[in-house]
Amino acid sequence: LFAGETDFVKGVVAMDGLPPADRIEVCFAGRSNVGKSSLINALTGRKGLARASNTPGRTQEINFFTAGEEHYLVDLPGYGFANAPLAVVEKWQRLLKRYLSGRQNLRRAFVLVDHRHGVKPVDEEIMSLLDSSAVTFQCVLTKEDKVKAKDRERILDQVREKLSKHPAAFPELIVTSSEKGDGIETLRSTIATLV
Ligand code: GTP
Ligand code: MG
Repeated sequence: LFAGETDFVKGVVAMDGLPPADRIEVCFAGRSNVGKSSLINALTGRKGLARASNTPGRTQEINFFTAGEEHYLVDLPGYGFANAPLAVVEKWQRLLKRYLSGRQNLRRAFVLVDHRHGVKPVDEEIMSLLDSSAVTFQCVLTKEDKVKAKDRERILDQVREKLSKHPAAFPELIVTSSEKGDGIETLRSTIATLV
């Protein structure tokens, strides 16, 4: 679907730097290290694409990629990393709020959750922000290849229970492994059906 026609467009630190809203857009949010960039690489079939833009000092940027003729994929900066200075966190939260509430071509946010860890309080903060911004979001479990079989269902239940409290949550989960390729086609076709 997107393979071979994907490009890094730009990294954005302020609202006036956003590319024109002329494509259907989806964004990927999640804790630092949850696997956002890896998922974008898996979706587009271009290893190193999202990673390439993820150089130190760019971590507070919103990174835009084109996928095929019709979509933007947006890699949001990871949240929840320890020891980030408060001023940096606040600046990032302001930009994120403006982006989520002001981007008219944004069709869905994917909130990535590590399948081993389930939904953390910091994920719920983002989910609440999406509720109040009226952005429909869907939860994507990542690193499926690393979750222990005995934990799988219990964590899925925890995630479903948390999502049930969020009006903007799309109830269906997508379980993925960027490493093994599980769920990638499902996610790709989910994105392709958004209009
Ligand atoms: P930030 O940009 O810092 O917010 O991180 P990120 O969410 O973009 O995570 P990234 O894609 O850089 O992945 C973090 C680490 O997890 C890397 O070492 C990846 O190789 C690894 N990883 C990502 N997805 C998977 C997966 O599906 N399975 C396994 N086993 N490892 C994964
Ligand atoms: Mg990343």
